[in-house]
Amino acid sequence: MYFLPEDLDNYIVAHSEQEPELLQQLTRETYQKILQPIMLSGPYQGRVLSMISKLIRPQSILELGTFTGYATLCLAEGLQKNGNLHTIDINEELVDFQRKYFDKSEYGQQIIQHTGSALDIIPELNQTFDLIFIDADKPNYSNYFHLIIDKLNPGGIILSDNVLWHGKVVEPVGEKDISTKSILDYNQLLKSDKRIETVVLPIRDGLTISRKLESTKHE
Ligand SMILES: C[S@@+](CC[C@H](N)C(=O)[O-])C[C@H]1O[C@@H](n2cnc3c(N)ncnc32)[C@H](O)[C@@H]1O
Repeated sequence: MYFLPEDLDNYIVAHSEQEPELLQQLTRETYQKILQPIMLSGPYQGRVLSMISKLIRPQSILELGTFTGYATLCLAEGLQKNGNLHTIDINEELVDFQRKYFDKSEYGQQIIQHTGSALDIIPELNQTFDLIFIDADKPNYSNYFHLIIDKLNPGGIILSDNVLWHGKVVEPVGEKDISTKSILDYNQLLKSDKRIETVVLPIRDGLTISRKLESTKHE
């Protein structure tokens, strides 16, 4: 779904950084071999993620929802030389695909894959993060927030994807539409939590940036 007229969207893409060749290969192979390739972040959002990461220069990144590793590699572009990126996905069938592309990149050694539910794996991570990208199952977004907020360093950033949920956040919600209800609750949680400051960007399906305040009282 485009939130802007398609010609304006095309203009924006044409005047932004080009997608690196490795990510073009990864995209082609994802479309050839993997179900639901639409889940890829895609070239424009990928360049946005890369730019944000380069501005932050994180020592440590956490990604929830690796899929085929597209956003992982975009976020890794901003990592410090000795930094690390942990990425979690529940789908074990994607592990070899991800590793192939991580090792083709210059960040292979810095990327640590975890297979399983992020709900189980996040509590096992014994480190804190400068940048966290939430892009896994929508019904658990609020649960993820509660699990990661104490693992986010002061001044650290949470990026949350799909927060406009194809525009459904401003439409009547169906009784059984768990995903839309979850995203609505999540957006309200980010807006109201006093430990962070938040802006929603109308990029692709909606990307929220939340920054953890330097001094926060735990609620
Ligand atoms: C939208 S895709 C991620 C796209 C990827 N970040 C990118 O930009 O290319 C969502 C991923 O979340 C994973 N996922 C779903 N439920 C999960 C869970 N409970 N824990 C971890 N990963 C999960 C899915 O297997 C899927 O690969």
